[in-house]
Amino acid sequence: MPSSQQTFIRKSSLKIQAPFLFLCPFSSHLIRMQRVMFMHPGDFTPVCTTELGQAALHEEEFTKRGTKLCGFSCNDSNSHKNWIKDIEVVTGGEVKFPLFCDPTRDAAVELGILDKTNKDAKGLPLTVRSVYILKPDKTIALMMTYPASTGRNFNEIIRVLDSLQLTAKKSVATPVDWKQGDDVIVNFPLSNAEADEKFGKGGYRIVQVPSEAGKVLAKNYMRYANTAA
Ligand code: BEZ
Repeated sequence: MPSSQQTFIRKSSLKIQAPFLFLCPFSSHLIRMQRVMFMHPGDFTPVCTTELGQAALHEEEFTKRGTKLCGFSCNDSNSHKNWIKDIEVVTGGEVKFPLFCDPTRDAAVELGILDKTNKDAKGLPLTVRSVYILKPDKTIALMMTYPASTGRNFNEIIRVLDSLQLTAKKSVATPVDWKQGDDVIVNFPLSNAEADEKFGKGGYRIVQVPSEAGKVLAKNYMRYANTAA
């Protein structure tokens, strides 16, 4: 992993406040609403063009989930304004959400999100291709960083939002590849007695496991429910 990414991860531990909320001019909006924020390596680049178009085409799905979108790259507002016209022609997606500008790269340097292994035509490092889910309490719920050559998957980001919203309200976690309507996992820290209280007796399914550790626990650790309590 490039050292710039390591620096960013160190700075943006999931437990600390998202530092860029204080740097960007739209911070008051960011604080009020859950946000998905995309860092883009640069304007007028092909993968980013497809991603921003896809984000725009999915915007209604994000809105339904009480979530706003925004992007960020080290370009200026003129560049952004021209680029979004290209994005619409290429993808059919009209970018209406804010794209933050950082032509001086001050914010990118402060955040440690410049990738020294990827440079623009002038030899300046590009921003990492990261995505963040920012919560209204200014903490980061999720961050993923992709290589510059790999575009993000918006269905996955929406799937994570669905999981976050469900697990914030209910005593459940979502298993691998979970999607809305699938079985959920009864929260591991709940004892069976507590799970009975929340889900009702017989309201969840215990998978009997062969391990001794699983048998001696006062709670079974593999428990599925199909209705979230
Ligand atoms: C792209 O978005 O296509 C891209 C950006 C930076 C490096 C390589 C590809």
